[in-house]
Amino acid sequence: MTEDLTTVEAIPESRIGFRGIRLPSFTRIMRPEPASNGLVTAPTELATLEGRNISAWFGDHQVLDRVSLTMEAGVITSLIGPSGCGKSTFLRILNRMHELVPSASLAGEVLLDGEDIYDPARKLVEARKHIGMVFQKPNPFPAQSIYDNVVAGLTLTGTRVSRDERDELVESCLTKAGLWKEVKDRLRAPGAGLSGGQQQRLCIARSLAVRPRVLLMDEPCSALDPTSTRVIEETMLELADEVTIVIVTHNMQQAQRVSQHCAFFLASQGTPGAIVEHGDTDAMFADPIDPRTFDYVNGRFG
Ligand SMILES: Nc1ncnc2c1ncn2[C@@H]1O[C@H](COP(=O)(O)OP(=O)(O)OP(=O)(O)O)[C@@H](O)[C@H]1O
Ligand SMILES: [Mg+2]
Repeated sequence: MTEDLTTVEAIPESRIGFRGIRLPSFTRIMRPEPASNGLVTAPTELATLEGRNISAWFGDHQVLDRVSLTMEAGVITSLIGPSGCGKSTFLRILNRMHELVPSASLAGEVLLDGEDIYDPARKLVEARKHIGMVFQKPNPFPAQSIYDNVVAGLTLTGTRVSRDERDELVESCLTKAGLWKEVKDRLRAPGAGLSGGQQQRLCIARSLAVRPRVLLMDEPCSALDPTSTRVIEETMLELADEVTIVIVTHNMQQAQRVSQHCAFFLASQGTPGAIVEHGDTDAMFADPIDPRTFDYVNGRFG
C-alpha cells in the first residue's frame, strides 16, 4: 500500500479524474429492427444508467460516499478496485437489491434513462425487470430444467409469453448467451448438470429472458476457468449492442478486454468507498490521472 492510499480521505468531486469515453465502433443506441429469424427478440431500447451522489450504509457503517457514475447506453462499463471498497454495494444499489439487507440504507439517485428507479410511485419489480443481475457464483435453480431456468423470471416479473413464444424465447436467449448449441438436445435436463461456465451462461440467458435494458455482472467469471471466462467475455461483447452492461472485475486484463469505460473505486483507512478516477478504459490503464490508479492497475496493491 502506498503512502497516498493511507492518507486518502473522502475524495472531493473536483479531484475525480475523468477524460471521456471512447464509444466502441459497434455501439448502436437503438436496435429498431426485429430479428429476421422471427424469434421473440423484439427490440429493446438501450438505456443509460446513472448513479448520482450514491452513499450507502450498513447500520452506522458508511461504505460509499457520494459516488456518481454514468453508465452509457451501449457501452460496457467496468468497476475495479480492492476488496471491500463498495463495488458490489454500488451494483446492488443500481437494481434495488441493497434495500433487501435489513440494516442497509442509502442516499442519492439512480436514473434509468432519466427516470428515478427509487421513485415511490414505481414498482420494485420494474427496476428488477429492467436492470438484471448476474452474480459471482452461478446460481441456476438446480432441480429445474435448463428450459425452465431460462423462463423462471417471466412469472416473477409478470411478463406474459404464450407457449409457442416460450420456445422461441428459450432458443433466442440461450443463443445470445452462447449456450444453445451445447444444450439444445437436453433442454429438459436439470440445470445442475451443466459445467460451471455453462451454468453461468444459463444465468445470463435467464437474465435476458425478461429483456432487461441493463445487465449488471458482479465478478461473473471469478469462479470459472480461462476458457469459460473467454466464452462469457465474447458473449458480453456480442450482447453489448442490445443491453447496457456493467461488470465488476478483479481481473485487470478482463476490464481491458471487455470494457470501454472503467471506474476505479477505493476505500482506505476506514473511509467509505469513492471513485478515484473513471473514463476511457484504455487511457485509464495506459496513462492514469491519479497515482493511486496507476498503482492499482499495475498490481502494486489490492
Ligand atoms: N450485508 C452486509 N452487512 C454489513 N456490511 C456489509 C454487508 N455487505 C457488505 N458490507 C460491507 O460493505 C463494504 C463494501 O462491501 P462490498 O461487498 O460492496 O465490497 P466489494 O468492493 O464488492 O468487495 P469485493 O471485491 O471483496 O467483492 C465492506 O466493508 C463490507 O464489509
Ligand atoms: Mg464484491
